[in-house]
Amino acid sequence: MSDALNFLVKARPEAMGHYFRFLKDAGKHLDPKTRNLISVITKVHAQTERGLKQYLTRALREGATPAEVIDALLMAFPALGLARIVWAIDVILSMNLPEFDPRALGAEGRWHGLAAEADVPATGAIRIECDGRALFVARGTSGLNAYDSLCPHQGTNIPELALEAGRLTCPKHGWVFDVASGECVKNGNAPLKRYETRLENGRVLAYW
Ligand code: FES
Repeated sequence: MSDALNFLVKARPEAMGHYFRFLKDAGKHLDPKTRNLISVITKVHAQTERGLKQYLTRALREGATPAEVIDALLMAFPALGLARIVWAIDVILSMNLPEFDPRALGAEGRWHGLAAEADVPATGAIRIECDGRALFVARGTSGLNAYDSLCPHQGTNIPELALEAGRLTCPKHGWVFDVASGECVKNGNAPLKRYETRLENGRVLAYW
């Protein structure tokens, strides 16, 4: 949330509580991906860069593809106009999201080899760079997990140094994630994006 919203929540907790409950209730029949795509459009309309980054990251985590994000922006053309759509694309490109790399647009998904299973520690995680993305690979209660290194808050690329005692702390605003589950355990409210994984001949593979 912006500093201004944080201020209003403290200054007028009841009124702002009604507002946030209204927003939550208003979208209760929509699936999370659609809800987040609509939020992307509202953030572009208001031209809040921080909000756009936050809801774009959430929409992608909920399975939105770059083509769907672009469709949503173009469908909102009557409300946004070309200038805001171009502004949004500039912000998105500045995030260096691998999905939006022009070479990746329209590419078919496939399995990528990340690491030997034996190299994944019993606790903690390893950071892997593969085909233009960085991922953290960790052991969870139900097997191996691979998480995108981009923070679900505003897309900061979380470095290896952020890893300590089974927790990842994003250097930008301090959201803390448990690497075994990917859940945000402090300061934030969204988990790391998880990739589908499988094991093949002792190697960890992830799909994107
Ligand atoms: S970008 Fe804000 S905590 Fe990571």
